[in-house]
Amino acid sequence: MLVRAGIMDLTQFVERLEALAVQAESAFVAASTSDAYEAARVEFAGARSGQIKTLQKDMGQLDAADRPAGGKKLNEAKARIQAAMDAAAERLTNGSGGSPGKVARQSANGLDPTLPGLSRHLGTVHPITQTIEHLKEIMGRLGFSPVEGPEVEDTWHNFIALNIPEDHPARDPLDNFYLAVAGASSIDASAENARLLRSQTSTVQIRVMENTQPPVRVISLGRVYRPDEADRTHFPMFHQMEGLWVDRGVTMAHLKSVLRMFATAYLGEDVTIRFRPSFFPFTEPSVEVDFLWNGNWMEFGGAGMVDPNVLKAVGYDPESVTGFAFGLGVERLCMRRHGVEDIRDLYRNDLRFLHQF
Ligand code: DAH
Repeated sequence: MLVRAGIMDLTQFVERLEALAVQAESAFVAASTSDAYEAARVEFAGARSGQIKTLQKDMGQLDAADRPAGGKKLNEAKARIQAAMDAAAERLTNGSGGSPGKVARQSANGLDPTLPGLSRHLGTVHPITQTIEHLKEIMGRLGFSPVEGPEVEDTWHNFIALNIPEDHPARDPLDNFYLAVAGASSIDASAENARLLRSQTSTVQIRVMENTQPPVRVISLGRVYRPDEADRTHFPMFHQMEGLWVDRGVTMAHLKSVLRMFATAYLGEDVTIRFRPSFFPFTEPSVEVDFLWNGNWMEFGGAGMVDPNVLKAVGYDPESVTGFAFGLGVERLCMRRHGVEDIRDLYRNDLRFLHQF
């Protein structure tokens, strides 16, 4: 049938809308079962021949000038009906002992208002990666350039050049992840071709100095591996930040200043730093580095003046240059800053934990 525009006037249309809305509202209020709800839904909000749909089609009979106003009224009526429908759905769902679904799942536009909306889950960068970026940024401001080294190392870079002799307990196969050599029946930690997962990032000091002439001012952030039993503070893989500054006239005072500036930048102004005398084969003197933070002394790693034997091993002249080095635990820093109490939380891949960062 050909319908001419302008054969129905606006007042009439608005009256029909009002009547429809009132009728629908009382039907949904009266609906006490899901069948009654469903019948009312089809009657009023059915997608093909529901009454709203019919009125919507009838809008075409309005005078073109009246259509915008008519459309607005239509939308208002629709919203009222939708609200009545939602209220009924909610009442029936809750009333029926919490079995959601059947009723609510069928609203006029096919949406289930009881389902969570579609949210876009943006991934987040892992907290350790975020920490690494942050540390690089702070050390960058202090003039340290980031460098990298391999995670599979030879004994020269992991031990020998670092002044760790063959009989040193740090080289014990039980304390390291040596790699099996094809064809060999057992691991020979002293073999020329022995390889291991690096146990410290100090290896990168050697690699840098072998390939660059002083001055060098670098940091290296990366994974290290030790066969430790995992507990709240240990994990067989963790990260270190290694720092190295070699130049003419570098002293312990520089080391102390750099670490203090680093600590205040990362943990805040009220950090105190403490050096405890210690021993590392590759530094002399050696210290352990503690920060006083929130009333507790916490150990973050080791440091010291690069041992002349190390400088000689890489072809530097210990008479003309000196240097300091340090190695700090990245997980420990991250945990302190964010209040993480168990290192294993960082590696459980529990998204509820990771999404907090
Ligand atoms: N490599 C040491 C460790 O893993 C940490 C360390 C101590 C690094 C002193 C250094 C240093 O550069 O000077 O326990």
